[in-house]
Amino acid sequence: MKIYKLITVTESVLNAFKKLIPQLSSSCDLPTKDDLEAIVNSNNTLLFIAEEHNDILGTLSLVFNKIPTGDKVWIEDVVVDKAARGKGVGKKLIQFAIEYTTSKNIKKINLTSSPDRIAANKLYQKLGFIKRETNVYRLTIE
Ligand SMILES: CC(C)(COP(=O)(O)OP(=O)(O)OC[C@H]1O[C@@H](n2cnc3c(N)ncnc32)[C@H](O)[C@@H]1OP(=O)(O)O)[C@@H](O)C(=O)NCCC(=O)NCCS
Repeated sequence: MKIYKLITVTESVLNAFKKLIPQLSSSCDLPTKDDLEAIVNSNNTLLFIAEEHNDILGTLSLVFNKIPTGDKVWIEDVVVDKAARGKGVGKKLIQFAIEYTTSKNIKKINLTSSPDRIAANKLYQKLGFIKRETNVYRLTIE
């Protein structure tokens, strides 16, 4: 299995995201080819792909924000296809993100995960992420 930074959005990449994103959220719109190309061409978000035998098994987004308190990095949208879970794919995606961030000399990586995501919370804790006490807020504009 290999992990790489996505550079070109092919039809098979688009189809993989159409399969993976509903396994992450049932309420969001599926990304279009234009959406994925905008991400790939952006300066601050990287899409990492886990692939084996030309099959895309999972993805992770790594988001870099430059703000007055420094460079912030967030892991977002981690998902592994149901058929490929429990084989270390998620772990390899996170490790790749950690190595990439380390190579940029950034020392902290942030993420959030709902407590009902049991596998994800276990995965993050196993790889050294420590739970922080903070309040996460969202305003939904009707
Ligand atoms: C979370 C997710 C990405 C894990 O991917 P995965 O490839 O199955 O995980 P791995 O096989 O790499 O497992 C790594 C570690 O995670 C934990 N883990 C994985 N699946 C688990 C499960 N079903 N129950 C408990 N812990 C689990 C274990 O600690 C495991 O290490 P171990 O195998 O040595 O015990 C995957 O379950 C998924 O896509 N879930 C749905 C989407 C989601 O919740 N994304 C996270 C959003 S915050």
